Amino acid sequence: MFEIEGKVALITGGASGIGLEAAKQILQNGARGVTIADINAEAGEKTVEALRKEFGRDKVIFTKTDVSNKESFEDAFKSTLAAFNNIDILMNNAGIFDEKNYEKLIQINMLGVTHGIVLAIQKYLINYRTGSEGVIINTASIAGTRGIQSIPIYSATKSAVVSMTMSFGNKVHYERTKVRVVAVAPGFTLTDILNDLTTKSLDENFARVMKRHGKTVKTQTVDFVGRSIIKIIKEKPSGTVWISEEG
Ligand code: NAI
Repeated sequence: MFEIEGKVALITGGASGIGLEAAKQILQNGARGVTIADINAEAGEKTVEALRKEFGRDKVIFTKTDVSNKESFEDAFKSTLAAFNNIDILMNNAGIFDEKNYEKLIQINMLGVTHGIVLAIQKYLINYRTGSEGVIINTASIAGTRGIQSIPIYSATKSAVVSMTMSFGNKVHYERTKVRVVAVAPGFTLTDILNDLTTKSLDENFARVMKRHGKTVKTQTVDFVGRSIIKIIKEKPSGTVWISEEG
């Protein structure tokens, strides 16, 4: 069992939604430090202020980060090391839903996760001093395990996240790197990302159904997804893609 107490986490897309909830629950579990790395500086600063009030000034930092840019992502690792002197957990969570701009979708949802995994494994996540395990948790989606007709490119980016989790997380890789790679694959969760579903590029019927949150389509709360994330970080073997669906 991996103990979160005393550990340091870097969370991308942590300014809102699932990333913010994960940050809260990781801090509630006794983490020593959390970095919120997000492209939205305004939301990020606000989030950090709120988290500092709740958990202490020295526990949380914000770094403006674009995960699709390798240098920017690397700066987030460096800022985390400068603030907390170590990194134990990387949560590759930043993501968008907009099928209209599919190049951006691939750059953020797939290339961004790839940058995170490669930088973490090659440089930043192994604790050479103590030899303790590092954990990468990726936010995939049920779209990546089943495919969703209305959002094919989003689904493909999430399939890539599922596949990278299984491959980078395989036993041989884990034994060599001591970095456990796992993923959460949430069902529809009530966060801001669903606002993108109003875009015309989407199947209108699907958008209409989704807007009726929780009636026709099964949705879940961020709190539930957050609890799944904690369980996965603590207990699940490397390579696990855990489907989180309430009820
Ligand atoms: P959200 O929109 O509340 O959070 C996404 C965060 O990522 C935002 O704070 C945004 O500013 C940030 N972000 C966007 N582009 C970025 C970039 N280039 N670099 C750094 N940060 C960036 O949405 P939510 O729902 O919390 O999404 C988090 C993850 O969960 C995403 O990967 C999403 O695909 C995934 N997911 C969401 C589901 C849902 O139904 N809400 C279901 C399954 C997976």
